[in-house]
Amino acid sequence: MRIALLGAGTVASGVVRVLQRNQDELCRRAGRGIEVVAVAARNAAKARQALGEGLPMHADFLALATREDVDIVVELMGGLEPARELVLAAIRAGKHVVTANKALLAHHGNEIFAAAQSHGVVVAFEAAVAGGIPIIKAVREGLAANRIEWVAGIINGTTNFILSSMREQGLDFASALAKAQQLGYAEADPGFDIDGVDAAHKITLLCAMAFGVPVQFQRAHVQGIRDLDGADIRYAEQLGYRIKLLGLTRRSQQGIELRVHPTLIPSARLMANVEGAMNAVMVQGDAVGPTLFYGKGAGAEATASSVIADLVDITRLHTADPEHRVPHLAFQPGALADTPILPMSQVRTSYYLRIHVRDEAGVLAEITRILAEQGMSIDALLQRPSGENDQHTDVILLTHETLEWRMDEALARIQALDSVLAPVVRLRKEELR
Ligand code: NDP
Ligand code: HSE
Repeated sequence: MRIALLGAGTVASGVVRVLQRNQDELCRRAGRGIEVVAVAARNAAKARQALGEGLPMHADFLALATREDVDIVVELMGGLEPARELVLAAIRAGKHVVTANKALLAHHGNEIFAAAQSHGVVVAFEAAVAGGIPIIKAVREGLAANRIEWVAGIINGTTNFILSSMREQGLDFASALAKAQQLGYAEADPGFDIDGVDAAHKITLLCAMAFGVPVQFQRAHVQGIRDLDGADIRYAEQLGYRIKLLGLTRRSQQGIELRVHPTLIPSARLMANVEGAMNAVMVQGDAVGPTLFYGKGAGAEATASSVIADLVDITRLHTADPEHRVPHLAFQPGALADTPILPMSQVRTSYYLRIHVRDEAGVLAEITRILAEQGMSIDALLQRPSGENDQHTDVILLTHETLEWRMDEALARIQALDSVLAPVVRLRKEELR
């Protein structure tokens, strides 16, 4: 199989290295050799430095993506354009495509998969979700017997690395991010990592595959870790929880939840102990029960592992009738459901609240009265001195589950109390039972 690489950065360098190192073994698995015949790069000198000297470099990406003698185009550039145009051109030219680009698929997946379907080619994207973990294959094939109930994952290595470094080594946010960038984990724009956008791209793809619905990134609720305060990480720990950036999609009677936000997870759960750039994804199926997939979520060779698995898959299935291939999004394209993605106000979850108040008689009673009037039950409560002023204190509350709109209403009333001195911090909590 003759491969063209578009892009010559971190992941491309891993793909070239692993393909060279494991060529014999791969040939035995796939039934024939897999060879990179050319690379498209806008800076040939930089590309040679990353990929080595031997590979032919091209500046014309479109010409390479549609070249007669290429069987599979591997898009490793990132971003929406020109990646979208190049992938569509490759598909129209009858090439199979492998991509690690979750942003592209979260925004344009419906268009790209439809084009692939009509041209009888495969678009494979194992590397786009959770780096080296074969979660796409697991959800699409290994768990095909199940009615999937929910999927929850730590699916951004950069933010998990930052949270771990802050908690374990006391690094500040900026130094932890710089280290993640140095190690090749971060997106070209690290704002995508920190603000939860990258995790939202990934959970959007898992949502489509778990529930058989179209890709709907624009409906996802997205909140990152930029504003997370170290005090909340410490208070959560005292209450028996760790804070992780969690991507979560869950099916309920009303519709589908699709959300990314910092989340308290009980410290005893395996998920709470996923550290550094490692990722983990839990999938709850009605037949299998809970499953957990763990591994490196980012980095050159871990990601290459997934890209090359796709190359092997395509090589094995190259001659199969397109009608008999595994559907891109797990469900047959004509059998997608129109189950709505729920607005955040309709999501049901439990909460962590930190309320900075004047330390005087009756304050706690006022807060708990409002929560009770909104039908909310308290699970745990902590009071800690805060800051220089001994007249002020932090009240930290964990609630049982409620609907988000009820919490919104309660928080508006609590925030309006004279005794509340700063914006209330609200984080969501998931028990992952
Ligand atoms: P890099 O930034 O290291 O490499 C991107 C490559 O594409 C570079 O060669 C870059 O050229 C080139 N490129 C980018 N934009 C353009 C453009 N507009 N025109 C021409 N060339 C372009 O990225 P990564 O290798 O880290 O990531 C590649 C893809 O893999 C992304 O979609 C990313 O989200 C995904 N991914 C990355 C993982 C990781 O751990 N790094 C893990 C899983 C997925 P130049 O060097 O000149 O800028
Ligand atoms: N920037 C991404 C992360 C790369 O940190 O997880 C893997 O998709």
